[in-house]
Amino acid sequence: MIITIDGPSSSGKSTLAKLISDHFSIIHIDSGSIYRTITHLAIENKLIIDKEVQLEKLIKCLNNNIITFKRNDTNKFQICVNNEFVESKIRTTIISNNVSTVATIKEIRNYVLKLQREIAVNKSIVMDGRDIGSVVFPNAEYKFYLCASLKNRSKRRWKELKDDEKNITITTVESDLENRDIIDSEREHSPLIIPENAIVINSDDLSISQVFKKILHFIK
Ligand code: C5P
Repeated sequence: MIITIDGPSSSGKSTLAKLISDHFSIIHIDSGSIYRTITHLAIENKLIIDKEVQLEKLIKCLNNNIITFKRNDTNKFQICVNNEFVESKIRTTIISNNVSTVATIKEIRNYVLKLQREIAVNKSIVMDGRDIGSVVFPNAEYKFYLCASLKNRSKRRWKELKDDEKNITITTVESDLENRDIIDSEREHSPLIIPENAIVINSDDLSISQVFKKILHFIK
């Protein structure tokens, strides 16, 4: 069984995907973490200068480093570079500010697409992202599209960030999300769209458990 959850940044996709994964005992893959990890490698190796990505060097870097998922202490599938967990390094503002630019590049998307499909071979999986129901698994059994207003998403994201990034304001978070929404929806290759046959859920006036209940209602 493949379940896809797409939607804009901070719409609650990953939280719901985790609940679904626990409920059905299936694997959860956060596909944004793959784009974030590639961006992390690019920044670490100084391959992004003024939002300009040195593509040839980045491809070389991806060939020299192995990106995989493995189970952590709490039994969740998390992303690794050369077998080391990188989750704690990929949620920073600098990565958030560059990831959508990296994700516009066709060669990078093809690399990620191959990885996403390899992970899902012979497995039941819930994967969240931007193009999962439209491009990665267009024939998935269940497809959801989660949305919420920019204001609510910014509030949620700010709450997640404020402990680690003390100076961050809601206004900064809001403009980062808005910027990413624009790049993600307007890019040429696999833009953020509502996938064909996806069930659309607006979470503005719903709690996470209410959204989860709604989703369970559709999954038989
Ligand atoms: O989900 P998250 O906000 O961590 O994703 C980070 C970025 O990765 C997104 O803003 C988007 O640019 C890119 N992404 C994508 N396609 C996906 C998942 C994420 O382009 N399937």
